[in-house]
Amino acid sequence: MSTTILGIESSCDDTSSSVIRDGVMLSNVIASQAVHEAYGGVVPELASRAHQQNIVPVVSEAIKRAGIDKSEIDAIAFTRGPGLLGSLLVGTSFTKGLATSLGIPMIEVNHLQAHVLAHFIKESPDDNHAPTFPFMCLLVSGGNSQIIKVNAYNQMEVVGQTIDDAAGEAFDKCAKVMGLGYPGGPIVNRLANEGNPKAFTFSKPHISGYDYSFSGLKTSFLYTLRDKLQEDPNFIENNKRDLCASLQATVIDILMDKLRKAVKAFGINQVALSGGVSANSGLRDAFLDHAKRYGWKVYIPKFSFTTDNAAMVAVTGYYKYLDKDFCPMDAVPFSRVVI
Ligand code: KG4
Repeated sequence: MSTTILGIESSCDDTSSSVIRDGVMLSNVIASQAVHEAYGGVVPELASRAHQQNIVPVVSEAIKRAGIDKSEIDAIAFTRGPGLLGSLLVGTSFTKGLATSLGIPMIEVNHLQAHVLAHFIKESPDDNHAPTFPFMCLLVSGGNSQIIKVNAYNQMEVVGQTIDDAAGEAFDKCAKVMGLGYPGGPIVNRLANEGNPKAFTFSKPHISGYDYSFSGLKTSFLYTLRDKLQEDPNFIENNKRDLCASLQATVIDILMDKLRKAVKAFGINQVALSGGVSANSGLRDAFLDHAKRYGWKVYIPKFSFTTDNAAMVAVTGYYKYLDKDFCPMDAVPFSRVVI
């Protein structure tokens, strides 16, 4: 007997829905919200309103593209947190309504856990590219930077995490002060490909253990801009490629230094990359380089599964379904949570 899970993701500014049957993705529909571009960042109230407009057509389309009838859905997995409360409320409330009308259980999903389990989304029944347990995962997104030891689908330990800004935030905030647009990560990545990563030196944190910090890098980036702009008002325009290349190289060095340390200490050489920042080409190259140099077996996600998507929520829901890990109807979203 097969198990069919409908996934719903609405934690930030993407409304997404996916159908997964026995771990195999049948559909994954994502509606992004262009409304935030004008503001240089996600505006929470606008995000929740856009989710309200998008959720019915996105879920209908996911069911249609999967070629199933909604009566075939066994459970609905939804992102309960972390994320923007108003946005999460839309997905949570919709799930409650649909699950009640279909008489099926709801499964709450931790957004961070879902990013990690994105590696288990199968695109066909014979797709066996997933890591085996245990593996280490570097989870890097706009809101989180964590090193996680993944022991099983539903058992993860956070080994280290940022004590201030996330890696994606470092990209987004530095891009913002350079006037490059939002989200800054992909723009910095594009410009970095044409710049010299050694042109500028920015400070790196000195904190013990496996934790990260990116606020010092951000401050040192700002001080460089402030000093150089006094000498040359066109400094940013004339040096944006080198600034982006040096910023990107520093972020990658910070991420990989701690990850290397953790991989060595735990003696686990299967290493996966997850989250929005995993789209970064420099970080992907660094993973491939570490595979060659240190004998790591690396797992780099497809671009379509790096940013927020409901397929990762549905696949997490599938494994929770197998454990009969359902949630009550009075479940409320939460904005902050650890794995
Ligand atoms: O995982 P995600 O979609 O959302 C969160 O849950 O936070 O990650 C979004 C983050 C943003 O900070 C964005 O700038 C960053 O991922 N990002 C990138 C790239 N593509 C997206 N950062 C660096 N290089 C990229 N190519």
